[in-house]
Amino acid sequence: QLSPIDTAKFVAAKRACDFVENGMRVGLGTGSTAAWLVRCLGEMVEKDGLRIKGVPTSTRTAELARSVGIDVIALDEAKWLDLTIDGADEFDNELNLIKGGGGALLQEKIVATASDRMIVIADKSKHVETLGAFPLPVEVIPFGWQTTKALVEETVSALDVLGDQVSLRMDGARPYVTDEGNHILDLHLNRIGNARQLALVINQIPGVVENGLFIDICDVVVLGHGDGRVEVRD
Ligand code: A5P
Repeated sequence: QLSPIDTAKFVAAKRACDFVENGMRVGLGTGSTAAWLVRCLGEMVEKDGLRIKGVPTSTRTAELARSVGIDVIALDEAKWLDLTIDGADEFDNELNLIKGGGGALLQEKIVATASDRMIVIADKSKHVETLGAFPLPVEVIPFGWQTTKALVEETVSALDVLGDQVSLRMDGARPYVTDEGNHILDLHLNRIGNARQLALVINQIPGVVENGLFIDICDVVVLGHGDGRVEVRD
């Protein structure tokens, strides 16, 4: 028996599988909701003979995809994808997103941008009127990260946001390290007035590799509910 939250994630993932067709190259997201998707697709490969190529967005997802029998290829082999299905930490009414709570935002953004369509699978706790309650992840290179952090703080304090506290993501006693060997700064902003501007400005700071704002990238949100209902928003 699944908990309501897992039911919501599962039914969203299951419904998103309807978008996947034979022969597609599919970007596979990262996180607990995306893990449901990968398992559902694995079942379709095994039971229904679905033929797809999967491009994972993290080493975690690559391992899971292989373990359930999905044919995994690298993005550079696929070159272009038909579809990417991924979770999100927040989505607003324009389907703009905050991602990267799981630390995989860089590969996630590259893969989603290389896809004809991006579908987000989520439960209703991810829906917000205004992005920013979830801390915004920003991937930075380890060299000079404290200098980069100071520049990020200076930059956000000059913009239309409420908070400006920036913290280095930790993994126990050490800085968290991404699949690309970088660190993550979490920006506690509370409310992001102009997400489009913030996304552009942050990426101008030397040392910043990418930020977790996905603006005009997501095409469809499949929203699962704890009672098993599913809504599709586009
Ligand atoms: C991974 O880096 C994130 O972008 C995830 O997509 C996001 O954190 C959602 O994860 P859950 O599905 O576990 O909430």
